[in-house]
Amino acid sequence: MESFIKPGITTNDINTLVHDFTLKNNATPAPLNYRGYPKSTCVSVNEVICHGIPSNRVIEDGDIVNVDVTSILDGYYADANKTYFAGTPANGAKKIVDVSRQCLKIGMEKVFPGNTLGDVGWAIQNYAESNGCSVVREFVGHGVGFSFHEAPQVPHYGRRGEGVVLVPGMIFTVEPMINMGKKDILILKDKWTAVTKDNSLSAQFEQTVLVTPDGCESLTPYDL
Ligand code: MF3
Ligand code: CO
Ligand code: CO
Repeated sequence: MESFIKPGITTNDINTLVHDFTLKNNATPAPLNYRGYPKSTCVSVNEVICHGIPSNRVIEDGDIVNVDVTSILDGYYADANKTYFAGTPANGAKKIVDVSRQCLKIGMEKVFPGNTLGDVGWAIQNYAESNGCSVVREFVGHGVGFSFHEAPQVPHYGRRGEGVVLVPGMIFTVEPMINMGKKDILILKDKWTAVTKDNSLSAQFEQTVLVTPDGCESLTPYDL
């Protein structure tokens, strides 16, 4: 993705790359036909928060582009996403991508046995809001394993000490959606695309994590 995303390509081109690579590796793209979703990946540009449907939209210089990939291999699901820059990012784009990347990192640092999902959510919310950004409430992380979305829900906001207590063996995603402006969202007429109500930029990073005896391990690792 890193070298592929540049001004001039379409979001459909990204979908084709993900689709073909997935099949070539004997896996299945989980989004395709999931609850009627028509494509193999989600590509969310600029003010699109998540679930952007690949189309003939052309990526422009300065865009921020989130690609969310979920693969099924031997019955197991893994879910991850990352936000990329196309061409030269403006200052605002750099800031929102940096804050959302840090939010995932800080959230994952709170994933260890005995901590709660409230501890994870609080850490993310505190970092985002301290930096003048906001946390989307309508979409949360989720257990993942033999199906796409399992219990528990993993909110990216919350209160310390509240919620599910973490124990080794749990597998769930952490995937904070962070807006430059207000947290409010709108869903477009296609019933999938979520955008910021105030049209501000939104960015996201996601990994699937396993709770281990002394912390957590990413099952979809990449550098943050
Ligand atoms: N990958 C998304 C998530 O992180 C879910 C996408 S659902 C789809 O949970 F149908 F839009 F693909
Ligand atoms: Co997810
Ligand atoms: Co995802």
